[in-house]
Amino acid sequence: MIKYHAETRTFFLHGRTTSYVFRVCPEGDLEHIHYGKRVGEDDFSCLVPASELSFSPVPPGAVRQGFSLNVMAGEYGGYGQGDFRTPSALIARQDGEICSRFVYRGHRFHALDFGDLPCARGGETLEVELTDLCSNVLLRLYYTVFEEEDVVCRAAEFINAGQSAVTLRRAFSFAVDLEGGDYDVFRLAGRHLAERTPERTDLGHGTLEICSMRGASSHQMNPFGALIARGAGEDEGECYGAELLYSGSFSLRFERGETERVRISGGIDDTNFSWKLEPGERFITPQAALAFSAEGLGGLSRRFHDFLRARVIPKRDVFAPRPIVVNNWEATYFDFTAEKLFALIDEAAQLGVDTFVLDDGWFGKRNSDKSSLGDWTVNEEKLAGGLAPLAERCHRRGLKFGIWFEPEMVSEDSELFRAHPDWAIGKPPRCTGRNQYILDFSRADVSDYLYGRMAEILSRYGVDYVKWDMNRHMTEFFSAALPADRQGELQHRYLLNVYALARRLKKEFPDVFFEGCSGGGGRFDAGMLAFFPQIWTSDDTDAYERAKIQWGTSYAYPMSAMSCHVSVCPNHQTGRITPFSSRGALTSLGATGYELDLCALTEEEKGQVAEQIANYKKIARLVLEGDCYRLSDPFKSNYFAMMTVSKDKSEAYAVGMTALAVPADFSRRIRLKGLDGRGEYLVEELGVKFCGASLMNAGLPMPRLNDFSAWSLHLHRVG
Ligand code: GLA
Repeated sequence: MIKYHAETRTFFLHGRTTSYVFRVCPEGDLEHIHYGKRVGEDDFSCLVPASELSFSPVPPGAVRQGFSLNVMAGEYGGYGQGDFRTPSALIARQDGEICSRFVYRGHRFHALDFGDLPCARGGETLEVELTDLCSNVLLRLYYTVFEEEDVVCRAAEFINAGQSAVTLRRAFSFAVDLEGGDYDVFRLAGRHLAERTPERTDLGHGTLEICSMRGASSHQMNPFGALIARGAGEDEGECYGAELLYSGSFSLRFERGETERVRISGGIDDTNFSWKLEPGERFITPQAALAFSAEGLGGLSRRFHDFLRARVIPKRDVFAPRPIVVNNWEATYFDFTAEKLFALIDEAAQLGVDTFVLDDGWFGKRNSDKSSLGDWTVNEEKLAGGLAPLAERCHRRGLKFGIWFEPEMVSEDSELFRAHPDWAIGKPPRCTGRNQYILDFSRADVSDYLYGRMAEILSRYGVDYVKWDMNRHMTEFFSAALPADRQGELQHRYLLNVYALARRLKKEFPDVFFEGCSGGGGRFDAGMLAFFPQIWTSDDTDAYERAKIQWGTSYAYPMSAMSCHVSVCPNHQTGRITPFSSRGALTSLGATGYELDLCALTEEEKGQVAEQIANYKKIARLVLEGDCYRLSDPFKSNYFAMMTVSKDKSEAYAVGMTALAVPADFSRRIRLKGLDGRGEYLVEELGVKFCGASLMNAGLPMPRLNDFSAWSLHLHRVG
């Protein structure tokens, strides 16, 4: 609910349990008042007195003694009029000056059309229009309140209302200056094969930046960050989270300055960003989702999970049963024939798998990662008869047919590159990454070509599932199609066309299920989730490593967004041997599947596959719809445990894993969370009944296990 009090010129943005409050101050600037637990609609002007601070410039038009933008808690930082904190926008005028001061002009309740950018569905939107006193640019700040989910989405729109061009050198989505305090910053850092490792450090004074300059949101740093009050933890205390609905180079900044206030701001990374606005043109930033929780990081995660599921992930897919996949990548890599794949499909059908996904290597003359990206025609030498027999075999056996694409890439050794060398980003000599170049998706002719190739394959073979991959990061940021003064637009234009292509294909093929991927989890972000209901979480399929990766990912993203496959041992990434049952248990905490040669399994293992699938079907709804609780942190202890509880608390499912067996470790218990304290639960696997409060406060004995062994428990409320 959004309310405006005209007498105090104050905006109240209420969620179920939170309020976000700001006002137009006497000078006309937007002044932040409160973000946190819900408050009344009072006159808060006494909370924000103008206070003098030496070396804080007084801007023209100040009506209060000592007023300075440097001291004020703001809603979007200007530059050059005395606010020395991180500017939210840098606007260069034609005379070269960079200076901005945004003052209120008016507001209305009006949602923005984000065009090709992903955006959250629904909510109530406030548009506040500001004018930049230094340039002729209008700035519109958008606040969309999702009351039920307790999330506020922010975005900005710039309109050049002047007579000459201006250049945006930075255009962040949001900024907010929070009350001073001792805070930690929490982020998800990592690398390929080890994505989204949680890290919490003291903010101190200065700026802590979470960013990617890679043209993708990246494995290395996720576009999610949280500010946590010192003392807050997993289940208690106040924290703020910010998550960008964006998949490219980004920046999220946490800045604590001389007033002790903390400015959180962010949006597109501006290391190599600029956007020229001719008179009358406009620029829209990506959306940022902000959430506050007084129930620690656990509460914050559940807010984001609910928000992403209700507002971002495609409605049609989000709660629908997910395909149970067998993917041939780790089973065959590039070395397959139609016969080998037929056998895999037949075996999959026997065991209860419902989708076969043909991974890399089916096109051009791709027998290794050295060639053919861009040549999206079937390699008939390898696949006699092409894709049709495979698709038919799947359909005849009752399986869906899925296929891998890496649409944004081109190999130097490809027909496409030979025909259109200028379609690759950069000028020679270029860096390679996995022997490939990146296609210049800022060009409409490039994305149109890809649409044509993909649409043809999807319609000709009745494809049911697409895995969309992206296996290198951007270098040599140059487009042959852009003029010199627009080269800084390349990365954002690239992404807009990637989103547009995904949107176009999804519209044209509404029954096709799309999974995102980028060398595993290199583009695991809320922007991608707007198109792809699930994303391949990591190329690391080792059960123990996955426990950590899934744990880390869960801080920002729901379990149902994590695509997880059982693979062979010794594991291809770590060489580790883990029990087959552990691999199954871990994958059941996401969108499950298999990525191994099912035909090569022992009869006992095949039995386990069938059993795992049958069990998964029993708990799949909990994974899709439930509330996620983290129980035991695998980064801080020998034990991993996570659970999901249905919204009505009638059912729950928990999975745990012991990293290394510990002798005589029999006093350890696992306490469950999120249950109905007064309800009585039957723990299916143990055949015992406990009251919810006992399960949460006294716990259950932790099973004594061997190295990397896992357990799972399915609970039903019976009284
Ligand atoms: C990436 C993906 C893998 C697989 C390979 C194919 O690494 O993450 O799952 O599809 O590409 O080349």
